[in-house]
Amino acid sequence: EAEVITDIAAMRNWSRSSKYQQQSPTPKTLALVPTMGFLHAGHLSLVRRARSLADLVAVSIYVNPGQFSPTEDLSTYPSDLAGDLRKLADAGGVDAVFCPRNLYDYVGGGKVRRGDDGGEERGAVSCVEGEHETWIRVEGLEKGLCGRSRPVFFRGVATVVAKLFNIVEPDFALFGKKDYQQWRVICRMVRDLNFSVEIIGSEIVREVDGLAMSSRNVHLSPEEREKALSINKSLSKAKFAAENGQETCQRMKLLIIQSITEAGGRIDYAEIVEQETLKPVEVITSPVVICVAAWFGNVRLIDNMEINI
Ligand code: PAJ
Repeated sequence: EAEVITDIAAMRNWSRSSKYQQQSPTPKTLALVPTMGFLHAGHLSLVRRARSLADLVAVSIYVNPGQFSPTEDLSTYPSDLAGDLRKLADAGGVDAVFCPRNLYDYVGGGKVRRGDDGGEERGAVSCVEGEHETWIRVEGLEKGLCGRSRPVFFRGVATVVAKLFNIVEPDFALFGKKDYQQWRVICRMVRDLNFSVEIIGSEIVREVDGLAMSSRNVHLSPEEREKALSINKSLSKAKFAAENGQETCQRMKLLIIQSITEAGGRIDYAEIVEQETLKPVEVITSPVVICVAAWFGNVRLIDNMEINI
């Protein structure tokens, strides 16, 4: 049975007392899997990987208002704590589940906007207001790809992950390559700020038909879900073409945009970028990743494929 912890001080106590047990001469290692809940096989693959790496595994479940802008889907983000706990138990269990109520309420009066009252403040602010004013910005990496249409997203992610690292004090933290830019932003933050945690990037888990698993997939209608397969299909084609040296980046991007648009999706971006710097490339001479974001109805999906040549 996993211990479910909601209190910040209790979480830190649990972490320290579990790692440093009197009878064992060396401290146990702890791996953290940060999530926003509504867990699926992608999250669970991170949990399994975590268990193979460390003595102890903690999963955090927190829908972070700091990474949503007031026009985004904070209020409709799916949640199912009981289901999540069951899935974690079925997947072999974890040692602790950290479910804080509000990570920005320092004096008991902190406010979180519900996220559906956008109004005029489009994109410029997050759903956190009041007592919190310290934000971590990974200035270069946060700008491109998802950062263009979601200007507060990566500072919100970097900040909440830093908070979780300070509360949970893990030796390892696992992130999915599904959110490729997020993983790179966290790696860079950890390097630049000397966090003492090792970041592990884990492969994308897909449905049998190729759709990348995402908590947001539940919002897709059956028709939209079918159309959304165009993302994975066009990425696979582009990867194949690239590995066979057939296409220029310009043409590969065009083909991806065309096939997703023809399927009925609305492209946010399709880019081919260097794996570490996320800088766009014209020709593929080093390891790159093809990154796509597209809307199907009201649902924004992202996906990517690495090309290692
Ligand atoms: P969330 O979307 O819940 O994802 C939690 C972790 O699961 C992330 O590292 C994400 O990359 C990984 N993940 C999601 N879908 C995956 C898939 N199909 N295959 C492999 N890994 C997958 O990402 C977040 O939450 C938040 O931004 C968070 C890091 C928790 C900060 O709030």
